[in-house]
Amino acid sequence: MTLSTVDEAGDPDARVLVLEGVDRSGWPFAGHGFSPKGHHPAVHPRAALTFYWPGHGRQVRLRGPVTPGSTEDNAADFLGRSATARAESLLARQSQYLADPAEHDRALEKSLALIRQEPSLVDSGRTLYTLAPVEAEFWQAARSPVHTRLRYERATDGWERFRLWS
Ligand SMILES: Cc1cc2nc3c(=O)[nH]c(=O)nc-3n(C[C@H](O)[C@H](O)[C@H](O)COP(=O)(O)O)c2cc1C
Repeated sequence: MTLSTVDEAGDPDARVLVLEGVDRSGWPFAGHGFSPKGHHPAVHPRAALTFYWPGHGRQVRLRGPVTPGSTEDNAADFLGRSATARAESLLARQSQYLADPAEHDRALEKSLALIRQEPSLVDSGRTLYTLAPVEAEFWQAARSPVHTRLRYERATDGWERFRLWS
């Protein structure tokens, strides 16, 4: 999926991420609090998710508020990841400038050694964020230029559904 956020200056940013699941509370994604994907929701707590299935000619767009997970949820999510993913996260340097790739490899090796010594170590900066949609759009391509667009808007007791011009 593509996660779009807005930074402190009001400028947009977007990146592809793995969707970590989905339940009634929303659509989760993971990141470090200091990386742009984690830092932006702290200064502007709304975001958009975009999904595209070229084979099906289908797009889903979601917009809504983003909230960080609890310390317990974040820790459980972190500990459920592979040792390499945890070691990488513990480097806590994502999106910073890297002068020399060898520096990364050395740091990762140290981080892996730390995890081997202390397997229950938790990276407190790693956060599971959840976007709770208040608007959703389903777009379905047709063979003709008349594509189907359905828009759902969160109402007090469910969702309101609208068709949109294509
Ligand atoms: C297919 C694909 C999947 C990706 N999955 C993740 C992911 O799950 N987590 C992640 O941190 N970055 C992932 N990335 C890299 C992000 O797009 C992005 O470059 C990185 O998270 C840094 O984003 P930020 O600087 O905006 O925080 C993925 C990229 C691609 C192309």
